[in-house]
Amino acid sequence: MKGIILAGGSGTRLYPITLATSKQLMPIYDKPMIYYPLSTLMSAGIRDILIISTPHDLPRFEQLLGSGEHIGCKFTYIAQEKPRGLADAFILGENFIGKDKVAMILGDNIFYGTEMGEKLKQYTEVDGGVVFGYQVSDPERYGVVEFNSKDEVTSIEEKPKKPKSNFAIPGLYFFDNDVSKIAKDVKPSERGEIEITEIHNAYLSLNKLRVCLLDRGTAWLDTGTFESMNQAAQFVQVIEERQGLKIGCIEEIAWKEGFIDDSQLAKLAQTLIKSGYGKYLLAQLKK
Ligand code: DAU
Repeated sequence: MKGIILAGGSGTRLYPITLATSKQLMPIYDKPMIYYPLSTLMSAGIRDILIISTPHDLPRFEQLLGSGEHIGCKFTYIAQEKPRGLADAFILGENFIGKDKVAMILGDNIFYGTEMGEKLKQYTEVDGGVVFGYQVSDPERYGVVEFNSKDEVTSIEEKPKKPKSNFAIPGLYFFDNDVSKIAKDVKPSERGEIEITEIHNAYLSLNKLRVCLLDRGTAWLDTGTFESMNQAAQFVQVIEERQGLKIGCIEEIAWKEGFIDDSQLAKLAQTLIKSGYGKYLLAQLKK
């Protein structure tokens, strides 16, 4: 399975912070935001990953992540000229996806939970689409699932004024190879974007969409506003300091997944030693 990280957009809700730089490069406590969604894909065993951002920001992502070889991955970069909508990722990524299935994650979505990677691995052979439902107190900000009396999913609505449930769809999606074809048929919404929810509904009408509910022990954190970005950073800090374990540490995950060996991890640690991040990596080797 291939992976896509969508990390473009204008970031206007975080102005002036994002006037000159990309939101997904902003720090969430001790690492850039994109490390978190990247680590989520990697923990599901996905190593061949397309990173999409704006023409302005893409070189910075390349500077940060390079070819991916150092962490046993392969990164490809494509610029999205205009923020045409989330579904555009599957059109821009059509050649990259080739004949494979694909997981897409938004560059500003953070997931944390027990055995998250192991749970996600079961969706990599998807036939149709798999999306997730996560209970939130403010569903009107997201794509929202509607269930009938038999708990079957009947529709998914993008930012409904009157949400039909409290289950939002987080920005992590698994699709089979039909997704690019489906994305090309999506018509722009009132806000002028080709919406990911249209892709969900297309799979739903074919009876090929699974909505898997994420349990309450899983954290899905938003970084869309100053408050939520700050809360996400505090969450990461609290867990990391309490447990002495890092969240979203791509080098550690690469090593645990067997993408790199002990000596490669030790080499990576050396360049990061001064911030303490490198010491953490070396400590993992001694466990
Ligand atoms: O976070 C989950 C939600 O993400 C879902 O529940 C919604 O169904 C989905 O539409 C999306 O809603 P948002 O309002 O959060 O989408 P936003 O426009 O903020 O874009 C999400 C990220 O994707 C953001 O970091 C910017 C990036 N992006 C967005 C667009 C529209 C791109 O890279 N390119 C784009 O064309």
